[in-house]
Amino acid sequence: MEVRLVQGDITRQHVDAVVNAANSTLLGGGGVDGAIHRRGGPAILAACRELRAGHLGGGLPTGHAVATTAGDLPARWVIHTVGPVYSEREDRTPLLASCYTESLRVAGGLGARSVAFPAVSTGVYRWPLEHAAQVAVRAVRESSTTVGEVRFVLFDAQAFAAFERAAAGPGTSRPDL
Ligand code: APR
Repeated sequence: MEVRLVQGDITRQHVDAVVNAANSTLLGGGGVDGAIHRRGGPAILAACRELRAGHLGGGLPTGHAVATTAGDLPARWVIHTVGPVYSEREDRTPLLASCYTESLRVAGGLGARSVAFPAVSTGVYRWPLEHAAQVAVRAVRESSTTVGEVRFVLFDAQAFAAFERAAAGPGTSRPDL
């Protein structure tokens, strides 16, 4: 599996699956979620509503992933995942790692060959970028996925640099634990 780093807008990536940093309602939000629904169009929200009317009546749990159409995005699917909100009291690292491994499991099940990830939980959910990057890179590298290309799409130079460092070196333990 090839891991690539890109600085840019995840809604413009030509890949099979784009991962959305969603919330458990699956009904949209700001950040990546807002951008994907804005550019992807109403078909994505309609598909999310169907999921909520069906087996995801209680919403998508943190760390889980589910696929819908990508609507007008240059992709075939959107894989929605819900990152953990950062906590200083409780180590939610396994939930953050699960966003990546579960999204790759769903992508593999679809036969997706390329997957674009945002830096999950590092915006509204306040996860420190440096640690989130280490968790993301390690989770992807350790996954036994059939996906050929994983692309981390970072919105700004600071996030890109954090993922470059994570991709270059061995992961270190969480700084504040
Ligand atoms: N492309 C790539 N990355 C983006 C884009 C974009 N178009 N827009 C924002 N980002 C980056 C942010 O800079 C941040 O680094 O994605 C990362 C994740 O930030 P959020 O989108 O805020 O996601 P998260 O921290 O996981 O919080 C999720 O925010 O938008 C709501 O509905 C969403 O409640 C959920 C929560």
